[in-house]
Amino acid sequence: MPGAIYAEGLVKTFGDVKALDGVDLEVPEGTVLGLLGPNGAGKTTTVRCLTTLLRPDSGKAVVAGIDVLKQPDAVRRSIGLSGQFAAVDEYLTGRENLQMVGQLYQMRARAAKVRADELLEQFNLADAADRTAKTYSGGMRRRLDLAAALVVSPPVMFMDEPTTGLDPRNRQQLWEVIKQLVSGGTTLLLTTQYLEEADHLAHDIAVVDHGRVIAQGTSDQLKARTGGERVEVVVHEREHIAAASALLDKYSLRGLGKGDTTVEDHMRKITTPVSGGAKLLAEIIRELDADGIEIDDIGLRRPTLDDVFLSLTGHVAEAGDGDAADPDGTQKTKEQSSGGNRPGKEAVK
Ligand SMILES: Nc1ncnc2c1ncn2[C@@H]1O[C@H](COP(=O)(O)OP(=O)(O)OP(=O)(O)O)[C@@H](O)[C@H]1O
Ligand SMILES: [Mg+2]
Repeated sequence: MPGAIYAEGLVKTFGDVKALDGVDLEVPEGTVLGLLGPNGAGKTTTVRCLTTLLRPDSGKAVVAGIDVLKQPDAVRRSIGLSGQFAAVDEYLTGRENLQMVGQLYQMRARAAKVRADELLEQFNLADAADRTAKTYSGGMRRRLDLAAALVVSPPVMFMDEPTTGLDPRNRQQLWEVIKQLVSGGTTLLLTTQYLEEADHLAHDIAVVDHGRVIAQGTSDQLKARTGGERVEVVVHEREHIAAASALLDKYSLRGLGKGDTTVEDHMRKITTPVSGGAKLLAEIIRELDADGIEIDDIGLRRPTLDDVFLSLTGHVAEAGDGDAADPDGTQKTKEQSSGGNRPGKEAVK
């Protein structure tokens, strides 16, 4: 019995672009799968194939026990979808948008109104309920789109970047809504650029790159697989970044992945995967000292999901907060900054 969401060998080509190159996925009933991947990896295309919006060139997909290619209409009745780009009717008010969805699902007018009011409250839209969606901010539209996906509670939900563009408070509230939904038995596949979100919400994480799932497991399993510890050095002088980076690179554990030594220029921080613990740390401090490189901070830490993502895909996460943040886009891997070739994936397979 396949999981509530099952995909095998999904392929989708757009002209010369192979958006999906054999995607395999399985999401057990009542769990959350977080789909992570850099821009253009194929996350939205996967969601669109699984939700019948796009027909794959080949492969197999079963959602809620129904064959997606053979019975798309039946699949549509069993799923909820909230997209990366909010699909709200601009000329209707927030309340009317939600009531309309209820009526599409054949709810009675009274029940649709009650449900709309509940959701408007839950998504902080009560004050704006009677304004047309045209006047809504980006975050408000996204919340309305999410609320629309929740008018009825389908057994399987898909959310494509549900919290992109939400402020921290609204994001937290959505996380609570999602947790409630899943504790009620819903199966959820969500895509996200926020590693913290995947860490927090997803039972399993699938990392997608170039149209394939390149790793899948729990957050802990993926972190364990990334291996090693990370040494982080913050140099005092910006001019010392290059020298410190070259020095740390000598100790970098090779073969762990694509992103070995990384530099965050704006923070004067250099990070590299190592193994050797405190003894190695002492040695690095001595060497930095001997080279006259003054440091503000140095430490060892366990790999984060951010490191996992980087070592698997060679990209830092495009968006995020906390330690996954790269707001200025200044963090880059050494190979990216030096323009070198991207090594193959074999090292991490
Ligand atoms: N309708 C389309 N026509 C042509 N190319 C497309 C189409 N849809 C997607 N692609 C291409 O397929 C690849 C995968 O796109 P997709 O939107 O699935 O990526 P994604 O992982 O969702 O990225 P993002 O993080 O930016 O949302 C990209 O190279 C994209 O340009
Ligand atoms: Mg997308």
